[in-house]
Amino acid sequence: MSQVCGGIFTSHVPGIGNAIARGLQQEPYWKPFFDGFNPVHQWLAREQPDVAVVFYNDHGLNFFLDKMPTFAIGAASEYRHEDEGWGIAFQRPFIGHPALSWHIIEEVVESEFDPVTCQSMVVDHAVAVPYELCWPGTDPFPVRLVPIAINTVQHPLPSPKRCLAFGRAVGRALKSWKGGEKIVVFGTGGLSHQLEGRRAGFINKDYDHFCLDNIGPNPEALLGHSSLDIVELAGSQGVEILNWIAARGALTGDVVELASNYHVPISNTAAATVLFENRELVPA
Ligand SMILES: [Fe+2]
Repeated sequence: MSQVCGGIFTSHVPGIGNAIARGLQQEPYWKPFFDGFNPVHQWLAREQPDVAVVFYNDHGLNFFLDKMPTFAIGAASEYRHEDEGWGIAFQRPFIGHPALSWHIIEEVVESEFDPVTCQSMVVDHAVAVPYELCWPGTDPFPVRLVPIAINTVQHPLPSPKRCLAFGRAVGRALKSWKGGEKIVVFGTGGLSHQLEGRRAGFINKDYDHFCLDNIGPNPEALLGHSSLDIVELAGSQGVEILNWIAARGALTGDVVELASNYHVPISNTAAATVLFENRELVPA
């Protein structure tokens, strides 16, 4: 049987990739953020997952405003990195896991979700930056990828409730996968930030801490706000917290926080990293 060993939740702003490319990890501006990955590296070295299921949002690479799926699941054997230009530049591909992708697709459709299925897909900084943070310079990456894109861009956005339910459907699919791999789940994006308009640079530490305090032990607490509420509370890009909510849903065991880091600002955003272990529930 497969095992979902844990979850890694992190910001994905392209500026992080730019800092990696320029070797700025130990500079005072960046060090507090990059140091948050030390416990993640130790955990990954111990756990050695085989597969990464990544909940993220596409930034106009596959889907633009004219065609925007609410949920899309990659089912390709390989995903090229084709960032729009602000993130890290590298060429090594992400190796996919089509058999697991199709299992997840079949199971979530059985659960009455209707994702777009993508047998051809490219990925951007929302996947590449977290990978590079977790496995810096590693070639090839040690995990196979299942990318799951959530619309956090074109309104109407899915509700937090729908995202948590979708993540839980993915989690049930992962539990029933007979492949035997060790699986790590990623939620990428956030935390509070807004890049454009009158509120450019907006950050809400209170809402960020509310999310960080509850996403592990009580994700239902995040369902009290609508997606539009979250845009108001966290900024128009801070609504990427929907990716975290879905990813948290995919952790269906006893979720234990092993590490958490919050640092402001990173490239006009509130940056955060959280590591959860997903321990198997023991029947009473
Ligand atoms: Fe983003």
